[in-house]
Amino acid sequence: MSAMQQATARAFNGLVTQGWNRAARLYNTPILQRLAYRPPQDEIIAQLALSRAQRIADVGCGTGILAARIAADLAPEAVYGCDASAGMSKQARSRSDRVEWRHRQAEDLGFPDAALDAVVSTHAFHFFAHQAALAEFHRILIPGGLLAIVLNNPTTRFARALQPAPMQDLAYFPAPSEMRALIEAAGFTVTEQRAVQRYPIPPALVPDVLTVARRG
Ligand SMILES: C[S@@+](CC[C@H](N)C(=O)[O-])C[C@H]1O[C@@H](n2cnc3c(N)ncnc32)[C@H](O)[C@@H]1O
Repeated sequence: MSAMQQATARAFNGLVTQGWNRAARLYNTPILQRLAYRPPQDEIIAQLALSRAQRIADVGCGTGILAARIAADLAPEAVYGCDASAGMSKQARSRSDRVEWRHRQAEDLGFPDAALDAVVSTHAFHFFAHQAALAEFHRILIPGGLLAIVLNNPTTRFARALQPAPMQDLAYFPAPSEMRALIEAAGFTVTEQRAVQRYPIPPALVPDVLTVARRG
């Protein structure tokens, strides 16, 4: 991507995060959370428990439900909830004082090099500048550190047709194979990739995929 294209994409990302300022209040409704957001969060908690990570960032943390759950359920040394939207960050701040909330872009998180054991993200990666965000995750993770991302990774031609080129500056949902290639090109080894179970919704309707990787 040229410098001009990158600047345009970031300007669009500013619009996206302003939109989330307005959505912040609706976001916590129990039905939306149970059907849409809880199942991927369960998957991430399970991955973190297995890895025994102690310093964890949830990037694009929104209103902070996952980051607060990580702090409450796993009680690691440190949990950071990072989001570029002021409205979402405001909601997050009132949720838990066991999380350090950071109003930051995924592409510039501000941690020192190798400061974290795990970076996780649910339903936000499609908004990030993928290569820049993955380079930042690689920089802040320790060697062998865990990266676990859930997002809709559409595979059907129809779903892919819903992402015409002009939309891709706002949000781009890579197919699972693209996701794997992007992550590996950034210096990670993908260890697992599979659909998230979202009962009673059939996976074909919401093609959520969990991708797990380790920093090389
Ligand atoms: C659909 S919400 C997901 C929130 C949360 N992860 C969850 O699963 O409930 C997407 C979030 O990504 C954030 N976001 C979008 N672009 C971002 C960026 N470049 N850096 C950090 N956060 C970003 C938005 O502000 C929004 O809060």
